[in-house]
Amino acid sequence: MTLVHLPKRSTLNWHLRTKAKVPDALRHLLVDISRAGRDIRYAIQTSAGGLSGGSNQFGEAQLKLDILADELMENYLRESGTVACYCSEEHDGIVEMDTSAPYSVVFDPLDGSSLVDANFAIGSIFGIYAGSEIIGKTPREHVAAGYILYGPRTLFVYSTGDGVHAFLLSDIGEFIVMQEYLGIADVAKNFSPGNLSAIHDNPGYRKALDHWLETMTLRYSGCMVADIHHILTKGQGIFANVGGKKYPQGKLRMVFECGPFAYLVEQAGGASSDGSISLLDKKLTACDQRSPMIVGSKEEVEVVVKLLK
Ligand code: AHG
Ligand code: MN
Ligand code: MN
Repeated sequence: MTLVHLPKRSTLNWHLRTKAKVPDALRHLLVDISRAGRDIRYAIQTSAGGLSGGSNQFGEAQLKLDILADELMENYLRESGTVACYCSEEHDGIVEMDTSAPYSVVFDPLDGSSLVDANFAIGSIFGIYAGSEIIGKTPREHVAAGYILYGPRTLFVYSTGDGVHAFLLSDIGEFIVMQEYLGIADVAKNFSPGNLSAIHDNPGYRKALDHWLETMTLRYSGCMVADIHHILTKGQGIFANVGGKKYPQGKLRMVFECGPFAYLVEQAGGASSDGSISLLDKKLTACDQRSPMIVGSKEEVEVVVKLLK
């Protein structure tokens, strides 16, 4: 069949259908997640700030916005009819939806949310697995992963296993293709050191910091979505969040923070490690699992892994 009415600009839906060529159910789910992102952006701009009074499974105080973003994401997942279960930073354990549905979703509804009052960039992170199991999978088994970055521009970035592609939210609420096949070079010039206070009790991390300070440039915002997006758009860089006394496994959560970003970074030609293996091969053991994370330019990931040993 010849398509006569081609869209003038490539929308996310169009990209998923004609370039990524994913199954329709996965396309609907990704478009619904992008709609949640569009609504979360609106909530960030218009809703009251402040604490909700509750705390999440990690004992962290939840902002009203953390909860609102979580509800928006959950509503879209439920509406999509494609989600068997999900794991969110803001809920204990796995939440069941429709066990016969084809996909499971992991997400951090608002990453870097404590930065919102400072008007820094923040984001949402997601990963999608086939079937109704999350625990026991490895991030290599993602059928899709991505993030939404709420900065001066709102971007949707995804991979379904054929590169990483970025879309810009238009004034009328449509994500339009901005850059296809984001790539990461082997050598890093920028560094992003998370959980930096760990240098006091992790001598390897101090060595890594000393080595970075010799020649490299610091780029760190405190929101991993923005910090890793920086690497993906500049085409080089290193991001780390490793363990010390307070957080022996680093601060980041394996299921919905490390896993999706390991998938995206490796899809862009970079590397990921937990200090010994690729994060793509690390088993998901629990929703609240933490993991050290070193991602970015391949040669630099190797250097840092050696220094940490
Ligand atoms: P969240 O807001 O979802 O709790 O996540 C914040 C995370 C991540 O975005 C960032 O990289 C890290 O916390 C910041 O850690 P440091 O404060 O140690 O830099
Ligand atoms: Mn987070
Ligand atoms: Mn969060």
